[in-house]
Order: sequence, then C-alpha cells, then structure tokens
Amino acid sequence: MLSSSQTNEARDFVFTDKEFRFLAGLANQKTGIVLTEQKRDMVYGRLTRRLRALRLRSFAEYCDLLQSDAFEDELPHLVNAITTNLTGFFREAHHFDHLHEQAAEWKRQGKKRLRLWSSACSSGMEPYSMAMTLRQSIPDIDSWDAKILATDIDSNMLAKGTAGEYGASDVEQVPPACQKAFIEPLAGGRVSMGDELRRLVTFRQLNLLESWPMRGKFDVVFCRNVVIYFDKPTKEVLFDRIADVMEPRGLLYIGHSENLHGITDRFELLGRTIYRRIR
Ligand SMILES: C[S@@+](CC[C@H](N)C(=O)[O-])C[C@H]1O[C@@H](n2cnc3c(N)ncnc32)[C@H](O)[C@@H]1O
Repeated sequence: MLSSSQTNEARDFVFTDKEFRFLAGLANQKTGIVLTEQKRDMVYGRLTRRLRALRLRSFAEYCDLLQSDAFEDELPHLVNAITTNLTGFFREAHHFDHLHEQAAEWKRQGKKRLRLWSSACSSGMEPYSMAMTLRQSIPDIDSWDAKILATDIDSNMLAKGTAGEYGASDVEQVPPACQKAFIEPLAGGRVSMGDELRRLVTFRQLNLLESWPMRGKFDVVFCRNVVIYFDKPTKEVLFDRIADVMEPRGLLYIGHSENLHGITDRFELLGRTIYRRIR
C-alpha cells in the first residue's frame, strides 16, 4: 500500500490529506455525496482536469480558490466533477414494465392528470424512457394533463437532457417499437428524441438537499441510484420529503442496490425496488 506522499511522487499535482478532506467535506455539505478515502483517486482524476482548465499548479491553489470570492462561480464546476452520472435508457427495465401496468390501472380509473418526477435524471435517459413508456401505454396521452419533471444537480447533465441527442449505441436498450415511434436518426451516428417525448419532459436544476419549488403532488417518483452516495441521515430526510410531495398512494422506484428498510416507514414494498406511499 502506498503512502499519500509516495502516491504523490508519481502524480502531476500534489494532493494532500488535508486538501482531500477539505474538498470531500465541501462536496458532502453541498451535495450529500459522501467521498470516502476509497474515492480519493477518483476525486484526483476528475479534479485535475479542472485544475488544468484553470491553469492552477496545485490542489492547494484550488482549495484557496474555493475559499475566495470566486467560490460561487467555482462550486458548480466542483459539483459537476464529483457527481457520478452513469445511466441508461430503460435501465432496470422492470420499473418500466411496472409503470406500463400502472398506466392500465390509471386508464381504468379514468385518471386524466399525471405528474411524474425523475429526481436524479442525469443526462435524461431515465425521463425519456418514462416518456416512451407513457406514450406506449396511453396512446391518447395528449388529451391528458401529463408531465414529467426531470431534475438533477449537475448542469452539464441537464444540458445533455435538454439537447436530447445521444449516440446511436446509447439507444440499443430501447425496445425497437419505441425506437421506431419516438427516436429520430441524425447524421454521424447520432439520434434525437422526438417531439412527442420532448413535449412531456421538462428539465430543471434541483439539488435534492435544498428547497424544492414544486407545488403539485407526484403520482410517480423515480429516485434511482443517487442515494447510494448519501449517508443514512440524509436518506431518512430525503425519503420523508419525497413522501410529502407524493400522492397518497403514489409509486416510488429506487435503484437496484437500494432499499428503504430502516430508513422510512412511509412506503410499502410492492416488488423489487418498487414502493407505494402509505402514509
Ligand atoms: C448514477 S446517476 C443515476 C441516474 C438515473 N437516476 C439512473 O438511475 O440511471 C446519479 C445522479 O444523481 C445526481 N445527484 C447527485 N447528488 C445530487 C443531489 N444532491 N441532488 C440532485 N441530484 C444529485 C448526479 O448528478 C447524477 O446525475
């Protein structure tokens, strides 16, 4: 095992324990993301790019910058660098199958208003998958009052989601019928989300730790693969707040390695990582 001074010898920038602790503390305070010692190399790799862009010579200079008047301008860059944005179309496909079945139930109930929230939407593949599922399940959705809110803390990801363009290989997991109906090929091996999807989805920046401006209640919340980065008290507060913004029997989908056991009793488990609000 290398000591931090030995590791530093092979590196372009010295990265001391003190600097790592400062950056990890700031990231945790602002985003809820816990950066343990095991994430140190990841933090180094992601932030050296930023140091080079700023033409800084050391992490000490970067920490100084974050303690100067430039803090507000630099913070979004720090946040964007430390978030992990892995996502995919129809990731954890059983959630979309379940949403499809739920849509049949809404139709039977004569429901005409729907509010869905993709609460850590990354580059938009999750909310566009939700939109495709709704369009397939409810062909007359344009006569409903249906909206999907897609939020994330990372401004770079929101820009990608809003642009709605991806590589052709990104949409391989999209069922062929959905590709045909809702995705348009572009030049250069790129594809674009069609207008029928874009009309349903609105992208906004939102930090799950801060205040939420939404007023209406959600029928469905996707909160997937984001709380894995948070500590238990942060999860407890977050899921309590999510229950508060949901319809009484609303659906919550969480990530494959997550569960609500010991976190909140406001949801009942319906199936694998699928919950219903009960209080
Ligand atoms: C691994 S991605 C998951 C994307 C998608 N939900 C999925 O499961 O495919 C996690 C996302 O959470 C976002 N995130 C992290 N901390 C956040 C916070 N405090 N508020 C809002 N989004 C956050 C990151 O920017 C990132 O895009």
